[in-house]
Amino acid sequence: MEGMTTSDAHAEPRLPTVAVKAGRPEVQPDQPLNEPLVMASTYVAGGAVEYGRYGNPTWAAFETALGALEGGRAVSFASGMAAISTILDLVAPGETVVAARHCYQGALVQLASLEQRGLIKVVLVDIDDTDQVLAALNDDVALLWIESPTNPALEVADLPVLCAAAREAGVTSVVDNTFATPVVQRPLDLGADVVVHSATKYLAGHSDAVIGAVVTRRDDIWRAVDEKRRTMGALPGTLEAWLALRGLRTLHLRVERAQSNAQELVRRVARHRAVDRVRYPGFGGIVALEIAGGAGAADMVSGSTRLWVHATSLGGVESSLERRRRWTSEPLTIPEGLVRLSVGIEDVPARRAGRLASRRAGDRCSGVGTPLDSAMRARRHPRGSTPGRDALGDLSGRGGERRLLAGSGGCRCEPSRPSPRPARPGRSPRRRAVFAQRRIGAGRGARDQADQHLVQRKPHGSAPPRGRRSATCRHRRSDLTSS
Ligand SMILES: Cc1ncc(COP(=O)(O)O)c(C=O)c1O
Repeated sequence: MEGMTTSDAHAEPRLPTVAVKAGRPEVQPDQPLNEPLVMASTYVAGGAVEYGRYGNPTWAAFETALGALEGGRAVSFASGMAAISTILDLVAPGETVVAARHCYQGALVQLASLEQRGLIKVVLVDIDDTDQVLAALNDDVALLWIESPTNPALEVADLPVLCAAAREAGVTSVVDNTFATPVVQRPLDLGADVVVHSATKYLAGHSDAVIGAVVTRRDDIWRAVDEKRRTMGALPGTLEAWLALRGLRTLHLRVERAQSNAQELVRRVARHRAVDRVRYPGFGGIVALEIAGGAGAADMVSGSTRLWVHATSLGGVESSLERRRRWTSEPLTIPEGLVRLSVGIEDVPARRAGRLASRRAGDRCSGVGTPLDSAMRARRHPRGSTPGRDALGDLSGRGGERRLLAGSGGCRCEPSRPSPRPARPGRSPRRRAVFAQRRIGAGRGARDQADQHLVQRKPHGSAPPRGRRSATCRHRRSDLTSS
């Protein structure tokens, strides 16, 4: 190819090519391009698989592709929680697990359950406080459980430092890479021993399959995990593995688009008066907003959208949102008014167009036509007394303009009310910490790529204190867990 050097020709394929090519059948006449959906409980004796609990060609294709993306060998599971539980089951009785205080609540529930049964000890740490994590890595520790960014606090861990320290201390490090995906960070390259995924989210990416995976370069761990799957039987569904594999083919495109939408959203809501604090690590498609007015206002926001779906889970092509503390198992250190946004891949009309449309409609609210306007109404009208439904429009705008972030005709601001100034984060002296990850897919840690972890807080806002400052995680066990 013109302009291609010899070294380019032999370079490792880059992530988009891996996503498209890995885990396909051999290229031969009349072979399908895609691995077929193989439905089988039983195989003819004498081969490598023998029985449906021991293996399946469709799972294997998904595992090959995911392994190539993360740079290790994958074992797929019935769900992200099945993958997590399998890894935790490798911890010997009496050993200690150091875990992120704000990691996914299902993992926290599982850790608490194992501890209550006297099987393990759990030490919760603020994963973005590197010194605190390092200090916790004593001789009793077997496992360091990292999630980065965390769900839903969006804290970012210093993966290279933590994984190196864990290795030095003989501690196995595990990174839940569900939020970042290998498009943004590859923890195995950064020193982690194990990656876990809720492939239900970005990897499968279409909100239609529940599936999980473990990826590692360590043969001992791979064998132990594969053995656990055979004996405990937390198998992925064949259809789910097929769907997840199909999802992987477009992972990079979806993540890039969700990320650019999220970055634009953060720019637009940065100084919205209904928001006390914006949490965004600068990369990925998940944003958390701490809504002024707490639970009632946040419920109002999540319950009043049209284009945005009020739903748990994340990482699908569609934009969705929910107030996390509606789940009783969410740690109490997560603010009541925190709404987690999973930004989808819909279109984002130019802000100017949205504002013009807004003016044309005689609407004085020229800011972002987001559900945040609902929160403002909720503040003016306490819960239960809020007039009207659907409050002030959606990220879609209204009047047939199915637009994301349009900030247009959907606003029902009282005409007399002064317009909120549109966010101009770059010009505001109040703007505290803003960083933009310039590119994605770099080999370095996501945290390294950032100038600074973007956690914006209004200086005079009413945001509750950050979770990490709370002395203990008063995590409640409950049957109610979410995703
Ligand atoms: C970060 C993270 N890890 C793991 C899980 C659990 O995955 P699953 O729902 O596929 O069991 C979730 C679910 O939301 C999650 O957000």
